[in-house]
Amino acid sequence: MKKDLIISIFGSTGDLTARKLLPALTKLYQNKSIPENVLVLALGRKDFDTDSYLEAMQKLTNKPLDIKKLKKFVSYYKIQITEPSEFINLQKYIEERSNPDTKHIYYLAIGPDILPGVAKNISDAKLIEFHNLNQVLVFEKPFGHDLESAMAINKMLWAYFDEKQIYRIDHYLGKEMIQNLMTVRFANRIFEDSWDSKSIESIKIYVKEKEGILNRAGYYDTSGALKDMVQSHLLQILSLVAMDPPKEYQSDYITDEKVKVLRSLSFDEKSVLFGQYDGYLDEANIPKDSKTDTFVYFKAFVNSPRFRGVPFEVLTGKKLDRKESFIEVTYYPTSEQQKWNLPVSANKLIIKITPTDGVDLTINSKKPGLKENLEVVNLSFQTPESIEGNVPEAYEKLLLDIYMGSRTLFTRWDEIEASWHFIDQIKKCPHDLVIYKDEKEIIKKIKMLNTLK
Ligand SMILES: NC(=O)c1ccc[n+]([C@@H]2O[C@H](COP(=O)([O-])OP(=O)(O)OC[C@H]3O[C@@H](n4cnc5c(N)ncnc54)[C@H](OP(=O)(O)O)[C@@H]3O)[C@@H](O)[C@H]2O)c1
Repeated sequence: MKKDLIISIFGSTGDLTARKLLPALTKLYQNKSIPENVLVLALGRKDFDTDSYLEAMQKLTNKPLDIKKLKKFVSYYKIQITEPSEFINLQKYIEERSNPDTKHIYYLAIGPDILPGVAKNISDAKLIEFHNLNQVLVFEKPFGHDLESAMAINKMLWAYFDEKQIYRIDHYLGKEMIQNLMTVRFANRIFEDSWDSKSIESIKIYVKEKEGILNRAGYYDTSGALKDMVQSHLLQILSLVAMDPPKEYQSDYITDEKVKVLRSLSFDEKSVLFGQYDGYLDEANIPKDSKTDTFVYFKAFVNSPRFRGVPFEVLTGKKLDRKESFIEVTYYPTSEQQKWNLPVSANKLIIKITPTDGVDLTINSKKPGLKENLEVVNLSFQTPESIEGNVPEAYEKLLLDIYMGSRTLFTRWDEIEASWHFIDQIKKCPHDLVIYKDEKEIIKKIKMLNTLK
C-alpha cells in the first residue's frame, strides 16, 4: 500500500529513538497529526523482526511504550547503514511504498562518526534528490566539536543536500516556553517597550542539571558543558532573548535576527569559570586525568544598539541542586525609587523553562497596614496542571514541524557557524578547572570572581 508519509530512522535501536522518537510518533499518530497510513521504517543492523524490535526498545526506556499502537505503523528493516550496496534494496522497498507526493523524512539518530558515510549513502541511492523538498534529512547535535569540524560536516551535507532539505535538531527549541519567548517579548507592551539597556540591568540564562553524565561517558568526555550545552541550547535561548523584532514572523526572518545577535557576541574573559564535579573522574569510562568541564559560567555581551553593555550571565552544569532552566531579567530600579529611602527591589521577570513552564514578575508593593512598609510580591503564571500533562513534548512538536515543512524551530547553518566561532574563543581563553562538590561551592566561586574584578 502506498504511503503519504515515510519516516526512516537510521540508528533506530538507540536511546534517542526509544526514549523520544517512538513516544512522540505515537502521540502524533494518536491525535491524527500525521497521516494514518504513515510508515516508520526502523533501520538497524541487529537481527530483529518488528515485534522483537519493539520489545527491545521497551527495555531501553523506563516509560511504557504503546506497543500495540506502534505495531500499526512501525516496521523494522534490517540493514547495515554504513554499507552502500545495502541501499539498493532499501531504495526499492521505499519506492514501492511511495507515490509522487509521499513525504520522506530521513532521521539520522546516529553519532557523528558514521554520519557522513550514511548521508552519502542516502544521497547516492537517490533517496533524497537535490531540491526536492518532499525529501528531507534530519540530524542531531553534536554539529561538530569546533568551528572547523562543523564546517567540514556542513560542507559534506551541502554537497548532497539543499539547506532547505536539512533540519538540524536542537530539542530545546521545541520546548513550550522557548516557543513562547517571542510572544512574551513582542506581544506585551510592558515588556516590548522596556526590552533594552535603558531598562534592563542584567539577564541570566541558567540551565542546571541534577544528574551527572549517566551513561554518556564516551561522548561527554570529548565534549563538556560548554560545547554540549552552551553552543546549542543556551546560545539559542540567548539569541531569542536578545534579537530585534523580525521583519515578519517567518522562519528565515527570525533566524536572520538571531544570527545578528550571535555574530555580535563578546564575553568578559575574567568572568569565565569552568568546573568539574567531584567524582567525575570516578565515573565509568572517564580517563583519570580528564580535564572535561561539567560546569561553565561566563558573562556575554550583545553588541547591538538595544543591548550594548548589558551582561548576559550564562550558566550550565551537572550535579547541581536541582534540574531547573530559566531566564531571569533584572530591571534597573526606577529613578523615583531612589527618593523613597525604603528598601525597594528591582523588578525581575523570570521565564521558567523546566521543570515547569511559567512566568513570574516581581513588583514592589505597599504592605497592607498603617505603616509605609514595602514588600516584594510575585505575579505568577504557571501552566495549569490540567494542561501541563497535555503540553506536547519537544520531539512531538519538532517532528510535526518537519512534516509540515516549518523551519522556525531548527537551526540554520549560519547560526551554527556564528555560535561555534564564539565558543571557540571562550575555549581558547586561558582558564583553570575548579572541582566542585555542590552548587553552593561553585556559586561562591562565581561571587568571588565578580567581587575580585
Ligand atoms: N539520546 C538522547 O537523548 C540524545 C539527545 C540529543 C542528541 N542525541 C544525538 O542523537 C544521536 C543518537 O543518539 P543515541 O543516544 O540514540 O545514541 P545510541 O544510543 O548510542 O544509538 C546509536 C545508534 O547508532 C547505531 N550505530 C552506531 N554505530 C553504528 C555502525 N557502525 N553501524 C550501524 N549502526 C550504528 C546503533 O546501532 P546498534 O544498536 O546496532 O549499535 C544505534 O542504533 C547522537 O548523535 C546523539 O548525540 C541524542
